[in-house]
Amino acid sequence: MRHTQVAIIGSGPAGLMLGRLLELQGIDTVILERKSADYVLGRIRAGVLEQGSVDLLDAAGVGARMHTAGLVHTGVHLSFDGDHQRVDFGDCKVMVYGQTEVTRDLMQARRSESIYQAEDVGLHDLDSTRPRVTYRHGGATHELSCDFIAGCDGFHGVSRASIPAETLRLYERVYDFGWLGLLVDRPPVADELIYAHHERGFALCSMRSRTRSRYYVQVPVAEKVEDWSDDRFWDELRLRLNPDIAAALQTGPAIEKSIAPLRSFVAEPLRHGRLFLAGDAAHIVPPTGAKGLNLAMGDVKLLSEALTSACRGSTTGIDNYSAEALKRIWRAERFSWWMTSLMHTFPEIGPFGRRIQRAEFDHLLSSDAARRSFAESYCGLPG
Ligand code: APR
Ligand code: PHB
Repeated sequence: MRHTQVAIIGSGPAGLMLGRLLELQGIDTVILERKSADYVLGRIRAGVLEQGSVDLLDAAGVGARMHTAGLVHTGVHLSFDGDHQRVDFGDCKVMVYGQTEVTRDLMQARRSESIYQAEDVGLHDLDSTRPRVTYRHGGATHELSCDFIAGCDGFHGVSRASIPAETLRLYERVYDFGWLGLLVDRPPVADELIYAHHERGFALCSMRSRTRSRYYVQVPVAEKVEDWSDDRFWDELRLRLNPDIAAALQTGPAIEKSIAPLRSFVAEPLRHGRLFLAGDAAHIVPPTGAKGLNLAMGDVKLLSEALTSACRGSTTGIDNYSAEALKRIWRAERFSWWMTSLMHTFPEIGPFGRRIQRAEFDHLLSSDAARRSFAESYCGLPG
């Protein structure tokens, strides 16, 4: 039976970055991924990197393309019923660089083994010092023994599901709306991102490059993407933006269009025996605030250090991993929840609730302290 030090389940950004950081420490890993590499690279997701994530990509030796192709932003635009203002980040900044590109850079750098299209992955003997992973690949069943397992297999993965339910505490808020996203090969409408609250619903103007843009509108969760022609999308987006911005919008045929539901979710603790959860397997944030990828990067930085020490005989890091990671996770959950609450329409909050949203927006734009606090959370709290 093949043995590896760390079996990593999932080849998304969390699994790939963990694998890369461990590889650089000379630790043997095998990544098991259910889908094909092309499928993984076809997923379109948010693209705002905090400074800590930029630093981690550099430390992992995969930052070169990001520094050439990524766009540094020093502020964002916020809009409420068309009233539009820029918030300067002050002394911090973010890097706009697509998650797909981060994934591609990490895949290209990886030297250790990855098994794609691994089906029916099963985790066994998690309480022992020799856990095992079984899977089917190429028509045969295989078994891998390991010292540790990293569950980086996203929200629907097998890792969290392998932990006895009575040992996990789950915290969740499901929203009854989603984001309808459209990707288009047209220059972005503004140099920086625009987050817009409108009585018709939230809208976001984002980008992947100087020639490729990503736009979103809030829609009821039951909405069907087939019911949204490109024209309907553009009309709705324009209605939710400041009129000058709407007039400047360059539209075109969608190269991708999909609806993503919104959810806040945390599973505690992040460890069961020799299994450790990281990234979306452990927590979900709604995309407002763009914290998902950054949280995953924060988790695997901590986990790679903890597992490196554990492979060398010291268990302090793995013993503290869950509590340490959860501190940062809850701070990002709070910020993502707050920004979601401010920017979206919630019919159930009524006219009073909407006036409070407006008051919160005005406070954010008129108070230096509030702006600094926003910038600090948006750019990423240290640690
Ligand atoms: N066996 C093997 N692989 C699996 C299994 C399974 N049973 N279940 C899921 N996977 C794979 C998925 O196919 C996916 O490629 O695990 C990978 C998980 O990757 P992501 O969903 O990208 O999650 P993560 O790496 O934690 O990245 C977090 O993704 O959703 C965004 O906002 C989130 O940006 C954040 C980032
Ligand atoms: C994106 O570009 O897809 C994006 C940007 C910022 C967000 C969410 C998504 O908050």
